[in-house]
Amino acid sequence: PADIAAFVGQLLGGENPEKKKSLQGRRFVVTAGATIEAIDPVRFISNHSSGKMGYAIAGALAARGADVTLVSGRTALPTPAGVRRTDVLSAAEMYDAATAAFDRADGAVMCAAVADYTPDTVSETKIKKCGGEMCITLRRTRDIAAELGARKGSRLLVGFALETHDEQANAEAKLAKKNFDFIVLNSLRDAGAGFRGDTNKVTFIDRSGREELPLMPKSEVAERIADKIESLLK
Ligand code: PMT
Repeated sequence: PADIAAFVGQLLGGENPEKKKSLQGRRFVVTAGATIEAIDPVRFISNHSSGKMGYAIAGALAARGADVTLVSGRTALPTPAGVRRTDVLSAAEMYDAATAAFDRADGAVMCAAVADYTPDTVSETKIKKCGGEMCITLRRTRDIAAELGARKGSRLLVGFALETHDEQANAEAKLAKKNFDFIVLNSLRDAGAGFRGDTNKVTFIDRSGREELPLMPKSEVAERIADKIESLLK
């Protein structure tokens, strides 16, 4: 029923028929969800991202007529109507899929929660417990957003920052370092924001200032991001 409702809504252009084709002819890459980094065939390192925020963005862009490639970590969510989905597991797989899709895109929205570190080696067999402590050596993953930022040219790049402290300063540093056009800050200090839930409380930050939005459904946050993308592309 949700797919049918979304499809009919897309055909009818939702409440605002003007929005129906406003991103027609534009191509976007959206990353969403958590990456998982294998330790052995049984265990992995990951995070709490459900994919909901990224999936809402992919759906909102597709509903406006855009051609959307959703590069998705493992989630339980259905693919939004009209969206092409590439499933990945690790940060390395997400890097390959996102960089390849970005070559043909007008822009990208980097909503995934990507592992910054991965086990240096993956055991081929289940690691057995022993008496003492154990250490896993981690090495850095490649930063997908920074790579797209370095090669973006005139294309649009939107980042996210999930913070727990020094939110504004950390988000501004990521905006500059990864060459985002704007960054969407969400903080775990705000009730109803961040991982897993159906709402988020975000602040848009760009080089000219900040716009703080109230707590709202992730579907509405996605519409506001799509509005900002549209105005920047004009
Ligand atoms: O999926 P949900 O449960 O709905 O939760 C949504 C969310 C909290 C995951 C989302 O709103 C969010 O904040 N996503 C970014 C989370 C994050 O890990 O941000 P970061 O500050 O670590 O990374 C900064 C930016 O670089 C992000 O755009 C991230 O996608 C990108 N990045 C980071 C590391 C890396 N190796 N490659 C990247 O592309």
